Amino acid sequence: MTNDFSVLPVVPPDEGEVPDGVRTAVAGAATISRGVWLDLFGHVDFARSPEAWLHRMTHRVSYDRPLLVAVAGARADLVGLKVDDVLGYAYYDVPTADNLHTLDALELGVRPSARRRGVGSALVAAVKADAAARGRTHVMGWMDAPIAGTDETGALRSRTDPITARPTAGSAFALAHGFAVAQIERYSVLTVPAVLADAEVAPGYRLEAWIGPTPPHHRAGLASLWTAFGNDQPLGDVALGEEAWDADRIAATEAASAAVCERCTAVAIHEASGEVVGASQLFRDLDKDEAATQGVTQVLRTHRGHRLGLALKRHNLRVAKAGWPALERIHTWNAGENDHMWRINEALGYQTRAAEICWQWIAPSETTD
Ligand SMILES: CC(C)(COP(=O)(O)OP(=O)(O)OC[C@H]1O[C@@H](n2cnc3c(N)ncnc32)[C@H](O)[C@@H]1OP(=O)(O)O)[C@@H](O)C(=O)NCCC(=O)NCCS
Repeated sequence: MTNDFSVLPVVPPDEGEVPDGVRTAVAGAATISRGVWLDLFGHVDFARSPEAWLHRMTHRVSYDRPLLVAVAGARADLVGLKVDDVLGYAYYDVPTADNLHTLDALELGVRPSARRRGVGSALVAAVKADAAARGRTHVMGWMDAPIAGTDETGALRSRTDPITARPTAGSAFALAHGFAVAQIERYSVLTVPAVLADAEVAPGYRLEAWIGPTPPHHRAGLASLWTAFGNDQPLGDVALGEEAWDADRIAATEAASAAVCERCTAVAIHEASGEVVGASQLFRDLDKDEAATQGVTQVLRTHRGHRLGLALKRHNLRVAKAGWPALERIHTWNAGENDHMWRINEALGYQTRAAEICWQWIAPSETTD
């Protein structure tokens, strides 16, 4: 380990002028993350512009989003920083409404020329120290890797998923820092077909869909679905639990990201009761016309078995393509063990590209008695 770098927090003000050093640190992290995405996937659909990144850090509902950077030299602050001084970054969610034992969605990147010098280790040490300071015992991060052959030696496995992953530099790093495989998801991409099939919905149900904010009369219904999702989604060994959504949280969350991201949401309504019993959501960054990502798809347990999941996704795709005509591809992830969701995705034409591993670190005080 060398000590020719420093790890510093990047803290933009919630309002007012963003200091130059903060802006430069975010630009440096954005450059590194863009390179990591390009290396991993050959595309930059998940890369954030510095402006969008700053927006997400300063417009938060039910999460804080700290960014740490490793910068060249011994430094006490970011004043006078240059983009090239940024060697690596760690970015993660601090849930503030539920799952209060976790730091989630850890993303870590080190500039290729600065690797194997202890930069990644110093960043992870700082994240674990932050977890301890906040009383959080679990840190999770998702990382992509090629899918391994069924009998491949050294393949990474979870306890619950059929998909196995080939070891990478990132997995060697994660294992060296005490993270374990908690789940392996399937990452798939849909090339949006030129002709889209009509959604067929079971008798007794109807579909609605919209781009933009959820109409106020649907917020409570959507909130119940998102809350149920926390208990229903197959999570393997990932220590995440229910999120308590309500109409206000739906409205506030949508408003917070509206300047950088648009949602396309389909709901299934049970006509006899008027209840929202299923929903599916797509997200598009406003600075990307061609790509969207699939968010939650959820049908209440008592209304399953009517092919509402497929109908919701088909309908949402049509509405998304009509509103976002340049849309070419959709990225999705689903638990390796989640056969139902995968069969729907397969019917829609999704093709599996990689495995996505959930790495989970549990503080030693939690694993010994
Ligand atoms: C993974 C990553 C963050 C590591 O950053 P780094 O600064 O090179 O990591 P460190 O120098 O602190 O490495 C610490 C240990 O991790 C392991 N490790 C890191 N890179 C490795 C590699 N390419 N092969 C094998 N082991 C590796 C080693 O045990 C290493 O210790 P050592 O150098 O004494 O052998 C960096 O390679 C990266 O940005 N990769 C792309 C993004 C990514 O995969 N992020 C997810 C990581 S959770």
